[in-house]
Amino acid sequence: MRNLVPSWIRVPVVFFIIFGAVEFFIDSGEKPAFIEYPAVMLFLLLVLLILIAIEAIVSALENVMLHKLDEEAKARFLAEKEKTFKFTWLEETYNKLLGSKPIEEEGEIILDHNYDGIKELDNNLPPWWVYSFYISIIFAAVYLLRFHVFDGYSQIDELETELADARIALEEYKKTAKDLVDINTVTVLTDAADIKAGQSVFETNCVACHMADGGGGIGPNLTDDHWILGGGIKNVFKTVSEGGRSGKGMIAWKAQLKPAQMAQVSSYVLTLQGTTPANPKAPEGDIWVDDSAPAEDIPTEAL
Ligand code: HEC
Repeated sequence: MRNLVPSWIRVPVVFFIIFGAVEFFIDSGEKPAFIEYPAVMLFLLLVLLILIAIEAIVSALENVMLHKLDEEAKARFLAEKEKTFKFTWLEETYNKLLGSKPIEEEGEIILDHNYDGIKELDNNLPPWWVYSFYISIIFAAVYLLRFHVFDGYSQIDELETELADARIALEEYKKTAKDLVDINTVTVLTDAADIKAGQSVFETNCVACHMADGGGGIGPNLTDDHWILGGGIKNVFKTVSEGGRSGKGMIAWKAQLKPAQMAQVSSYVLTLQGTTPANPKAPEGDIWVDDSAPAEDIPTEAL
């Protein structure tokens, strides 16, 4: 085994195995262990020195032993050593792929012209080049058939698939990061779980002034289509987050509620629209018309 791998490979390989093991077993956070703990560097240096020392000692021993052997044994030992593993397979393949003639045989392929002493060899095309060329021809034919004859997917299709994947990933991400919502991105939540969560936020924080059925008290009626500060999810979210006009009693809830909770309670408030509360407060503010609503949502009489 020792003879199979030369020492200039053996030493680094063993060293890097030890190095890898050290990095694997020492928990050093983001930084590599040998930077985080200088003692590790010292240890690795020692390992390297010991490995080199072992190599040196073994080869010195070998030399001493060689001198003690008689001629016949020496010859046998050297012959054994000769059999060391050379990368013969790699070398042969490499030469085959180059396809060049050895210098001794160049006489066979020399062309008979001569320009100021410069002569030309009639070498074969190198096989690596020829094979790559054939492969590229086959690739081109397959490509042509797939994409131009049988109309394979186009770059536009690829883009669309990627966009669709990205949209799915975005939806997934939004589900786990509900608190990313703000006034610009808030949309009406329709999930029963979200509405229920909104209801419980409302019952804990808002009923004192708006009543459990939204009919209003200190705060305005939330069930009619009149709004002081604007209806629609964005305005309601803004009112909840930033509060109403100063001195009126509606505080900014962003300090106490998470963005997701404000979106949920805002969506819940909007579900109260059109319900009939027990003691409705008289409408305040203006009738809210959503300018950004899609055209088909506007009743035909309004057009
Ligand atoms: C201390 C009483 C009080 C509490 C508690 C309260 N509000 Fe209000 N709310 C008001 C008042 C007063 C207004 C009117 C503000 C104005 O006129 O500027 C108002 C306005 C609103 C409006 C705008 C109504 C409109 O017509 O534009 C919404 C929406 C609203 N509150 C939702 C909530 C939600 C949701 C909660 C619970 C998180 C809540 N409020 C808690 C007193 C309160």
